[in-house]
Amino acid sequence: MLKEQYEKSLKTIDFLKNRMTIQPKVAIVLGSGLGGLTKCMEILDEIPYTEIPNFPVSTVKGHKGTLIFGRINQVDVVVLNGRFHYYEGYPMDIVTYPEMVFAGLGVKILILSNAAGGMNPTFQVGDIMLIRDHINFFGTNPLIGPNDDNLGPRFPNMSEVYSARLRKLARQKARENNIHLQEGVYLGVTGPCFETPSEYKAYFLLGADAVGMSTVPEAIVGVYRGMEVFALSVITDLGVVGQVMEATHEEVLQAANSAEPKMIQLISEMMPEL
Ligand code: HPA
Repeated sequence: MLKEQYEKSLKTIDFLKNRMTIQPKVAIVLGSGLGGLTKCMEILDEIPYTEIPNFPVSTVKGHKGTLIFGRINQVDVVVLNGRFHYYEGYPMDIVTYPEMVFAGLGVKILILSNAAGGMNPTFQVGDIMLIRDHINFFGTNPLIGPNDDNLGPRFPNMSEVYSARLRKLARQKARENNIHLQEGVYLGVTGPCFETPSEYKAYFLLGADAVGMSTVPEAIVGVYRGMEVFALSVITDLGVVGQVMEATHEEVLQAANSAEPKMIQLISEMMPEL
């Protein structure tokens, strides 16, 4: 599977390399309702997925579907404006296709963002959570299949998926800019259902602080392809024992939008020191 995914990506990479006027070291994946980052960046080139050879197309409401080359705080970046979720029906090799492409373009740092439900009782809606580690509850893995040792190891080390260096930088920048930053473990599920009260409770007991429907597969492929990974969650609803909120997709988007300025500021402040 991986080999096929890689071979397919060569055409995409070739197309993008020919078109690129910058050589970004950083890739950013925008999560639910965080598309506002694109308004705060200098856009050099915005390409609809439909115009990129072999690139998948996204279907979910609130997700755009363009690949953007540009600058944030003077730093060259490539931005995935609309990710591919497993719950949409995409297989794992499509969900993680952009990461294969980023690696092929020479990207070294992968920044992931998402909306998540918080189980930690100290969390509030609108908080930003620095992901310290994850629990893969997808019941599958994007690296299943014959391995190509030229791409990455058969048994990748997962002891530090989320770069300690980048987490430290984020904490420092949050402090300097008075941004309240939570930190915790993200548990990734397939969705599309939000959790039952018992599921939120079970995930919290397992050691997770937040739960969401993305990020884990992308982070795994990021590590596999040798990128340094960093990820932030916006807490958009709470699954705290005894006070589970009934979230709708609209409420999730609204909460994500309200946290957006803080998230953008944090990422922007980190850029020059990446
Ligand atoms: N559960 C799963 N995914 C989510 C949630 C949630 O509560 N909120 C936003 N994405």
